[in-house]
Amino acid sequence: MGNGRLQGKVAIITAAGSGIGRATAQMYAAEGAGVLVTGRRLETVEPVAQRIRDNGGRALALKVNVGIESDLKTMIDTAIAEFGRIDVLFNNAVNSNPDTAARDGDFLNFDVQAFNDNMRINVLGGVLACKYALPHMLAQGEGSIIFTSSSSSLKGEVSMFSYGASKAALNWYVQTLAATYGKQGIRCNGIIPGVILTESLLAWWNPAMEAAFLDLKNVPRLGQPEDIGQLALFLASDESAFCNGSLYEVNGGMMCATPMVPVVRELLG
Ligand SMILES: NC(=O)c1ccc[n+]([C@@H]2O[C@H](COP(=O)([O-])OP(=O)(O)OC[C@H]3O[C@@H](n4cnc5c(N)ncnc54)[C@H](O)[C@@H]3O)[C@@H](O)[C@H]2O)c1
Repeated sequence: MGNGRLQGKVAIITAAGSGIGRATAQMYAAEGAGVLVTGRRLETVEPVAQRIRDNGGRALALKVNVGIESDLKTMIDTAIAEFGRIDVLFNNAVNSNPDTAARDGDFLNFDVQAFNDNMRINVLGGVLACKYALPHMLAQGEGSIIFTSSSSSLKGEVSMFSYGASKAALNWYVQTLAATYGKQGIRCNGIIPGVILTESLLAWWNPAMEAAFLDLKNVPRLGQPEDIGQLALFLASDESAFCNGSLYEVNGGMMCATPMVPVVRELLG
């Protein structure tokens, strides 16, 4: 167990059956939070909740597809019914459908369905979850909302033409919700991960990719879900009470150097 950094708090996490969401659910629970562990498939989130309970924590699994508004309303209602309050809403889900990804890579054949699906799941899902959670947070006079964005939201890409756009839209909501409700005690922040070893990445992983991604990093290793969980834990806790409307990059120094650096390294041998 941890140091009680989230003692007495209640957190909801979307896409908590794998990757960053699963790691964060375990870390939140270890610090004392009651966690609503949600995901598209109950069979992936139930073992996460069970493991938390086996370790003496408080957790409940719930099937939530963030693309379905009624699921999001049920998610908020369930948190209130089971835990009595909502302190943290971690909007972490992403459209991980490989078919959408396959249709999102050719601008000259821009796929409207891929665009709409990415916007609906990556943006609208989190926005509607906030719509239902905020009345409870406002009544409490406090709450922390966290979105998982992506480094694709910050710069141009040569693929994923609607994924990056959806994450950029999400950054806007982070700042807008922070501005709209900050004075009433609600904080909203975004995490911008860069290449974290999670299921969706490992599905198409190969040694060449590993070497290329390692080369991008200005640290000696690749990122793990817990590296993002550490920031999600800080943002959920009262330690981040003065943090609102910010977008935090956690990427092993991937964006800290100019594009000239690989060229210079090559030239210097
Ligand atoms: N892994 C990375 O390198 C990386 C980089 C940048 C951003 N991110 C972001 O981090 C977040 C978590 O990603 P991850 O890599 O841990 O994911 P992951 O590998 O665990 O897979 C995605 C998750 O999203 C869930 N999901 C897909 N559609 C859903 C829906 N409609 N409703 C609810 N859940 C749904 C899947 O079930 C799965 O659990 C995402 O928002 C992603 O965009 C990840």
